[in-house]
Amino acid sequence: MITPLFVALPGNEAMAARLAASCGGEILALEMREFPDGESYLRFTGEVTGRDIVLVCTLAHPNEKVVPMLFAAAAARDLGAYKVGLVAPYLCYMRQDRRFHPGEAITSRSFATLISSNCDWLVTIDPHLHRYRSLDEIYSIPSRALHAGPAIAGWIKTNVEHPFLVGPDLESEQWVGAVARACGAEFAVLRKERLADRQVRISPDHLDLPKGATPVLLDDIVSSGETLIEALRLLSSSTRVKPVAIAVHGLFAAEIADRLRSAGARLVTSNSVPNPAGLIDITALMTPAIRILTSGEDAA
Ligand code: R5P
Repeated sequence: MITPLFVALPGNEAMAARLAASCGGEILALEMREFPDGESYLRFTGEVTGRDIVLVCTLAHPNEKVVPMLFAAAAARDLGAYKVGLVAPYLCYMRQDRRFHPGEAITSRSFATLISSNCDWLVTIDPHLHRYRSLDEIYSIPSRALHAGPAIAGWIKTNVEHPFLVGPDLESEQWVGAVARACGAEFAVLRKERLADRQVRISPDHLDLPKGATPVLLDDIVSSGETLIEALRLLSSSTRVKPVAIAVHGLFAAEIADRLRSAGARLVTSNSVPNPAGLIDITALMTPAIRILTSGEDAA
């Protein structure tokens, strides 16, 4: 078998190196720079013909990342790559999964079409599957949506005494329930109403926690931080024990981490998006799927 070549888009070098090591692949450097007019120059620095190319590009704050990533995929195909896969630990544009208001673009569908026409397969972690049951509803290429739950449960077991899991909204129930079961912990799910991009209302305003339990808030994404901050407000009126806030994907700006800290919580995320709170490593969760997709055993 010819070893796969892992290509890091800017900012993904550490994850690409970890994946290349765990999947028995090699790193191929992609030279990239910007022309004075802001357009991108790309060049693969080694032979691509006949090789399995694995592009590693997490897609937080995606707009500036997507064009170079698509150019890299197209160039790899043009240079004769055998297959071009995309590992996007965080997969963007999943939350606009229906037309909430007349005239809105359903960007999840358009983005899926874009990726499906330029890549041969996709591996991601906990995409925001709410109204879609699976990526197959919108992606026409083989995909694997893996779950950070086991890694999160492992972190909680090692680091939190007597955890009680709390999901901030109904959408989080799928993650919270699975992680709670894996930790042997109880859980509750709150209700959330989103009033604006940076404004949410969480109810009820009090939660009965078991005596001595450490509340562990768990969500798939922390972006503006409002969901976790509102949920923390509720918890502070329910217990004096310092909560832990965990998100699979940390898409937040630095000041959000400070706000969460001043709201009295420790914030931890996976390393799907590089950030200082990204302590939960998801490399091992992705390795088996990437090995299969690059072995030619599962091309369909
Ligand atoms: C909502 O649909 C998601 O599961 C998250 O709760 C949400 O994306 C978090 O966003 P923010 O941090 O901006 O409240």
